[in-house]
Amino acid sequence: MSSLRCIACGKTYPLFEIRYACDACGDLLEVAHDRAALRAQRDGAGWRALFEERLRAVAGPHKSGVWRYHELILPDLALDEIVSMPEGNTNLYRVPRLEAESDTALVRVKHEGENPTLSFKDRGMTAGVSFARRVGARMVACASTGDTSAAMAAYAARVPGMRGVVVLPRNQVTLEQLAQPIASGALTVSLPTDFDGCIRILREVCARRPLYLLNSVNPLRIEGQKAIAYEIAQQCGWDLPEWVVVPVGNAGNISAIGRGFDDLVELGLVPRRPRLLGAQAEAASPLARAEREGFRERVRVVAGATSATAIKIGDPVSYDKAVRAVRASGGHFVAVGEQEIHDAKALVDSDGVYICPNSATAVAGFVKARAAGTIARDERVVIVATAHGCKFSNATIGYHGGSLPGIRPARANRVVEIEAEPRALERLLEAGEETGR
Ligand code: F0G
Repeated sequence: MSSLRCIACGKTYPLFEIRYACDACGDLLEVAHDRAALRAQRDGAGWRALFEERLRAVAGPHKSGVWRYHELILPDLALDEIVSMPEGNTNLYRVPRLEAESDTALVRVKHEGENPTLSFKDRGMTAGVSFARRVGARMVACASTGDTSAAMAAYAARVPGMRGVVVLPRNQVTLEQLAQPIASGALTVSLPTDFDGCIRILREVCARRPLYLLNSVNPLRIEGQKAIAYEIAQQCGWDLPEWVVVPVGNAGNISAIGRGFDDLVELGLVPRRPRLLGAQAEAASPLARAEREGFRERVRVVAGATSATAIKIGDPVSYDKAVRAVRASGGHFVAVGEQEIHDAKALVDSDGVYICPNSATAVAGFVKARAAGTIARDERVVIVATAHGCKFSNATIGYHGGSLPGIRPARANRVVEIEAEPRALERLLEAGEETGR
């Protein structure tokens, strides 16, 4: 049986209790699985064989890229208690233009934007909402920069009698992201504050009302997100890359991915873990600053404007978990500027892999670490693209149209407006031939 365990003092609590923090010291909780029981079930080769076998599942929960690893995610939840779309099974793409430009032998992008609601959040939500249903929650809630809310609203909509409540920072999520919870029928609330303000208010209300909180402070969410690490390992033939790069906002995802790799090492599926590179936008980079200051104390900032709106967070909830995961892996945090984010996005987009500005922050973080020599030419790299470019049309259109203040669109691919007649199109094509376009 798994339990909840405080990451600071180690106090444990029953798994099926609604609890987001330690009673004794107030710190974050994590789900602790019975590792000895898992080791007794199978050795590493046995686990690998089981997960390979399940890749052939054509129906049922094992078809999900989360629940294929059921025993490592939430073994105490029966398969028929799971709310799944299904999610995961996202592609891993080579990105030749990025490889060439960064002079790196092998770079792949794990495109989490290919999940049902177009972001990695679906992995955490299938775990969180399944658990919520099991403990009888009728109302689930989250504060969000736009992706958690889209995922939670959709998964809640799959459960008869469950209502979603999403709390969003006004004018700080994209139009596409705002549309998602509205479409799924969630109570959609907009507050005149930023994400950090939204979550502060919601946590207070959740402590007083029967609202089940599904932000990543909820340790069940993290369990689902660990599956990104498992899938990367399986797609790489259980031969892990040297580096995994992740964009960091509230810091739940990088913590989850770190834990996922730990599980694989401890259960003998892989011999070592990759190093983690956590990337933040300069305007919202408390963790990168903390690293520059030697992690002496917890850094909180007021997040400034960035095109990477989904990671515009100044006081990440999973700060301590993320610092631990990155340091244990021998990795780093890095901050990148707006121009670097846009250039990185345009470059990966031009490989036909359409990513969002948040994902591009990870790409830019990789480019910077590679240029600094932190990452070597022959080290293999997997970059986690966390959401789909289609959720952030404004960033793409703005860049290519040259309308983003302060951004030089070196890779601009402008829309050409012509008359509605064949000759106009032919003239354009001829001109293109001359210029070699
Ligand atoms: N990328 C995207 C597209 C995100 O939506 C988020 C987080 C992150 C990266 C960062 O992940 O918070 O686990 O470090 N979005 C949250 C939300 C905050 O509300 O959708 P993290």
